Amino acid sequence: MSDALLSVSRLCAGYGERPAVADISFSLHRGEILCLVGESGCGKTTVLRSLLCAPGVRWLSGEIALKDAELSALPGKARRSLCSQRLGVVFQSPEAAFNPIRSYRRQFVETLKSHGIFNPATFDRQVEQAFARVELKDWRRVLNACPYALSGGMNQRVALALAMLLGQDILLGDELTSALDATIQLSVAKELKKLRDDGVAQIIVTHHLALAGFLADRIGVMYAGRLVELGRAGDVLRHPCHPYTVSLIEAVPGLEDAVPTGLPGSPSLSGPQKVGCEFMERCLRARPDCAARIYALERAGDGHFAACNAGKGDGS
Ligand SMILES: Nc1ncnc2c1ncn2[C@@H]1O[C@H](COP(=O)(O)OP(=O)(O)O)[C@@H](O)[C@H]1O
Ligand SMILES: [Mg+2]
Repeated sequence: MSDALLSVSRLCAGYGERPAVADISFSLHRGEILCLVGESGCGKTTVLRSLLCAPGVRWLSGEIALKDAELSALPGKARRSLCSQRLGVVFQSPEAAFNPIRSYRRQFVETLKSHGIFNPATFDRQVEQAFARVELKDWRRVLNACPYALSGGMNQRVALALAMLLGQDILLGDELTSALDATIQLSVAKELKKLRDDGVAQIIVTHHLALAGFLADRIGVMYAGRLVELGRAGDVLRHPCHPYTVSLIEAVPGLEDAVPTGLPGSPSLSGPQKVGCEFMERCLRARPDCAARIYALERAGDGHFAACNAGKGDGS
């Protein structure tokens, strides 16, 4: 048995009969940050929502294990409760996770109580410290405010502070710095690294390849519902194998180069296919036999896997 906090094995999940994500396999260890990157619609949020057993997402097949607990073996209610005990989450629109017209103070107290860790004697101090870590000034005013009265960026930082207070093993973050301005983005990113150093494993979904480069121990690149490349951040960014990863990296403006090359076309909306590479029509390296390819992640190096290595040597 591996010592992973989380193991995902051949997960297929979606919103109806058709999978939105397929064959997703990875593991996450204590104190590790995995960033999932890829264009909009590639399935990053669906992976997180599947891990959370969120309503609306259907598991079609595959396994998810949290430490030694196999989630698919548990009935729905027990599964959701285990997920909420072990997985902290900060979503793109954290307002949705809170009641918009109830003060954060009340919601924090209720949540800490439901986790069995509310201590009235230390509560204010804990909140003050957690808010300071995410650069929320005037903590008392924010704590007494209702979510509707705060900006998206502030709500996101409140959600992150709550996740810190809950002290879960794993934090899932969905575009959690995108609503923030650049300086706060950097300080939140630094806080995530400190949390990682405290042992909190994280899966951080981001559009932002530079942020992934800064944060991640490992990067998973998603395209059309599949993980097309997975490996240590330095390996994926410096020695990308999949032509899609190469295109994503090329689309990031360099220091001298203010205009990104851009990524022509848009991701396939039909999601993962049984046969054929989904990236084929946008791929500069496509060959006729790509239409018959069956998806598989193959070893490209130590801890580095890719569904195709035609981009190897193309990276910067
Ligand atoms: N609530 C939903 N109902 C139906 N389809 C959805 C829903 N949410 C996402 N999808 C579809 O699932 C696919 C993956 O979307 P998503 O996981 O949101 O991607 P990402 O987070 O990478 O932008 C897309 O094709 C999207 O249209
Ligand atoms: Mg998303």
